[in-house]
Formats: sequence, structure tokens, C-alpha cells
Amino acid sequence: MDGKIPDELVDRIRSGNDIVEVVSEVVALKKTGANYLGLCPFHTEKTPSFTVSPGKQIFHCFGCGAGGDVVGFLMRHENYTFPEALRRLAEKAGIAIPETSRESRQDTGELDAVIAANEEAAGFFARALWETPEGEKARTYLEGRGMSAETARGFGVGYSMPGWDALLKHLERKGIGALMAEKAGLAIPRSSGSGHYDRFRDRLMFTIRDARGRVIGFGGRTMSDEQPKYLNSPETRAFRKGETLYALDVAGQHIRKRGYSVITEGYFDAIACHVAGAQNAVATLGTALTSAHLRLLKRYSENVVLVFDSDAAGIKAAERSLDVFLGTAMNAKVALLPQGDDPDSLVKRDGPKGLADRLRATEKLLDFVIRRAAAGAGTIDEKVEAAARITGILARIENGVERSHYLKAAAGLLGIEESAIAEELGKKLGKDARTGVFRAAGRKPAASPMNKIEEELLHLALIYPEVACQVRDELTPEDFSDGRLRPIAAGLFGMMDEAGSVDVPKLLGSIEDEELKKALYGLSVKEREFDDPLETARGSVGRLLKGRVDRKLAELSGQMREAEIRNDLDRLNKLQKEFAEWQKRKSSTR
Ligand code: UTP
Ligand code: MN
Repeated sequence: MDGKIPDELVDRIRSGNDIVEVVSEVVALKKTGANYLGLCPFHTEKTPSFTVSPGKQIFHCFGCGAGGDVVGFLMRHENYTFPEALRRLAEKAGIAIPETSRESRQDTGELDAVIAANEEAAGFFARALWETPEGEKARTYLEGRGMSAETARGFGVGYSMPGWDALLKHLERKGIGALMAEKAGLAIPRSSGSGHYDRFRDRLMFTIRDARGRVIGFGGRTMSDEQPKYLNSPETRAFRKGETLYALDVAGQHIRKRGYSVITEGYFDAIACHVAGAQNAVATLGTALTSAHLRLLKRYSENVVLVFDSDAAGIKAAERSLDVFLGTAMNAKVALLPQGDDPDSLVKRDGPKGLADRLRATEKLLDFVIRRAAAGAGTIDEKVEAAARITGILARIENGVERSHYLKAAAGLLGIEESAIAEELGKKLGKDARTGVFRAAGRKPAASPMNKIEEELLHLALIYPEVACQVRDELTPEDFSDGRLRPIAAGLFGMMDEAGSVDVPKLLGSIEDEELKKALYGLSVKEREFDDPLETARGSVGRLLKGRVDRKLAELSGQMREAEIRNDLDRLNKLQKEFAEWQKRKSSTR
């Protein structure tokens, strides 16, 4: 295989690992007959359709179609490349992999190298905070915000030096070059001429870790009125905002122990919760809650408490998060804070007990959203409007008993006959079934992790013309793994070619499929903030290109395994050739 890891060794590594054991580390499996069954980690589901065959040493999900061998599983689950997955499995099995060439070392090591650079940066930021004169300013700031040195140290809070290259220079001394720093999201190439500069300068630094505790990125808060208030790492090989929860590495075991997680919206908020005794708290990173977030949390508990400000924005955020929960087995509750409060300010004023009281006084997310939708509807017109909103929500509830319960509740809240709402709901369900807006079960298909990035990329392209140009230059519609997004990409590309710019309403008009239209509409109206859209897009484009090749490689690797089991040597031979070709393509996409 291209002077990479020899086939024979690949086989030894494969057979040195039991797929049931490897999968069990992240998915709860139950023996059923000859196979093991569990909830699929690659899509959101309530009833297990994720199957692992110990005999064949392969997995397959009957829900989303994911499948492959132990290597393919790790590639998908951990976002590893083929060599990275092999390395990890070799480690597990105690098999040594000889470093064949410099190139292969670079390839297998990219994810590790990005993480190593971030780990190095975390140490540098911490020393800058505690041991330099410049850090005094940040120490004072922390004091002013009521965070003790012990807490700050525990969470790995740091400080990025003023100037343009303090971190770059430090990394250089540690053998980490500017290009690597850029890949790790720590440096930005100068737009004029050559060279790089530090992404984070003169900011208070929050260290973002993955569930395993590896440093994958940073959030840097300004201590002046500079914009943005928080500057975050861009999406890198190791960091995806939509799939990361701040403080989960610490919170995980506490979530398991207490039987629920607490989701806040800010770094300071998660830390304030921990200090106040709610160590089961995590924070999203300035993005909306995603189904990938829920899958992460589900490993520890199915119960979630969402903490929101009771202002309009908080209520809107709660309503939006309902979409993500519907159709999952997760049990979501809402804890409302007084208007204008976040957990950090609440704890500061009311202390740990104040927070504990709020976390106890929760309401089911569905109850909350329906209650809010009905609130204040007095006139007939208002009631009609509220009923329409509520039937929209009811239509997305899968379980008939649950739906009927909420129908009754809504009728009570609006002071109208149940049958009236039932009639509207019937119309809605009927209409939806006809137009295909909702699937049979009345819910949207869950977004896979890849979807998220692709969606975000298209979203960026619809807002920023320079991103649209970049996407046009580097991708084809086929590079999108999500079939639903391909026509949007194609429409977008066509428009760029013809008119040189994107006319969103026109694009919307040109698409006939109702579901697509809805998705496109959603994409172009989402409110999200991006520190650096081009930078974010660049990372996503790279990942898409790579993802396409990796998908193919994983698929081939599973097929090869199957051919091997069936002793179909002809097919195996053909597959191996194809595999080698895709591997070549992979080195050229980098
Ligand atoms: P908030 O603006 O609510 O700030 O952003 P905060 O967490 O309360 O922070 P303090 O108390 O003012 O210092 C909530 C979260 O949204 C993300 C950050 O993750 C932040 O913690 N955010 C916010 C950004 O990513 N960029 C921004 O410019 C602002
Ligand atoms: Mn705050």
C-alpha cells in the first residue's frame, strides 16, 4: 500500500483488536443472538439498529447505513484518517508500527500534531498568565470577575501575550513551525506578503478540551471593548464547535453520577456552575445546540437541563433547541434564570444555593415551549396564530400518547376545544405527509456530524461572497456527503458562474423540492456569528475534500474485509487496487 503500512501488518493490527471491545468503549452494546446491538453513534435514534458482528468483525447500522470494520469504525467515530486509526489500534494491541517514510509520519501524525501544538500553547498561555508582568492585567481581571487562582488553574485558564508573535516564537523553539501553528488554529497567515502572526493576542484564554481531555482549541476573551468579545479557534483537524462542549472532560463523570447534565452558554457560566457545586455543567461554544452535542452527552446521561436567560433571546434559544431534541430519547428540561442573568452572574449574586434552587425548579422543554407559545393569546386572531404554532410543534412529536397529552394541555392553555386543535393538527399532518415536508414519523432526519460542517459552509457561502468564491473554486457538489445539500451547492455554483454572485431569493425560487427549500431558507436566515468566515470556510473545505476520500476508504476497507471473509480473492484484489488509488488521491488533496 504505497510504501505505507504493509498489508500484512494492517491485517495483524485488525485481528489484534476485537471490534466488540473497541465499539463497547463508546457504545453500550447488548448481546442479541449472534450479534451485539446498540444505539447508533452516527445518527440519532431511540431504538437500537446499530449491529456489531463478532464473527465477521464488522458493524452495520440498519438505521443510517453506516458500516465497516474496526478500522472504519474508529475513522468515523474519532475522525481519524486510515493510518491514524491503525496507529491507535496498534497501540491497543501492543503492536509496533515502524516509521516507514517521512511522508507517512506526517500523514499519520497530523491530528496528533494539531493537538500537540494546542497542548504546547495551553502551557504557554498558563505561564504567561501566572509568571509574566504582562499577565498582571489578566490576573487582575480574573480577580475582578471573582474567579480564584485555584479555579483558573484547574480549568487551564491562561493569557495570550500582546504583540504579534510571542506564541509563534515559542512554538518555533519547540520545533513547531508557523505552518503547523496555522493548521492548529493558533496562527494566521499575513494577507500581504509572507509570514504569520498570532491569532490570540492580549486575551484571557479558555482552554477547550475534548471529552478525553486533549486540548483542541481556545476561546479568548478580550479585556477591553475590542470585538469580538470572544475570539475562538477556527475549525481545525481537531476542533469542531458543533461537536464540542466546554468542560465535558471534567463534567462527564459528574453527569453520570448525578444522572443529568447542565448545558450553559458560556465559559464563565460553566466554570461558575462547577464552583457552585454543579460540576455536571458544560457550555456550548457560541453555536446553537446540535444533535452531535446530544450524542456526546448521551454517553453519560439521557437527562439534560438547559439553562436559559428568561429574556426574549433565551426563550428563542429554548424553542430552537426543541428541534434538536425531538426524535431523540433525550429528556430535556429548562431552568430559567431571572431576566438579564446568566449562571455566572446568578452565582455571584445568589450564591451556590441560588443556582441549586434554579436547577431544581425546572420545566419540561416541551411544556415550556408550548406554554410560551400559548402565553398571552387573548383575541381570536392571537389564538389562531398560537394554535398554528403549537400544531407545528405537536406535529413533530413522534409518540402518539405524548402528542395527545400535549394536545390536551394546549387546548387548556388556549381555552379552546381539544377537537379544534386536533382538527388543525390532522390537517397539518395530512398536508405534511402529502408534501413530504416531514418524514413518516413526523420528524426531520438527524444531521450527521458531516452534515453540520457542510451546512455551515453553505450558510457561510450564502452570507459572504468571498466564501462563495472560495467554495466555488475548490469544491464540486459531489464533495458534499449530504445528498440534500448537493442541489443547493449546484444551484449556488451555477449562479456564481453565470452572474458572479449569489441571489438568495432567486436560488430559493429555482428549487422545487419543498424540503430543500426549507433547508435553504433555514441556512440563509440562521443567526450565527463567525470570528473569521474565510478561515472557518477554509477549514471546512479541507475537511470536505478529505472526508470524501476517507468515506470511500472506510467503505472499501469494510468491503475488503468482507471479501476476505468470503475468501473472494478476485474481488479482494480489485478492491485493494481501488483502495491504493484512493490513498494516492488522498495524499494529493492535502
Ligand atoms: P456571552 O456574550 O453571553 O458572554 O456569550 P458570557 O459567556 O456571558 O461572557 P462574559 O460573562 O460576558 O465574559 C456566550 C458565549 O458565546 C460565545 C462564547 O463561547 C461565550 O462564552 N461567544 C460570545 C463567542 O464565541 N463570540 C463572541 O463574540 C461572543
Ligand atoms: Mn457572563
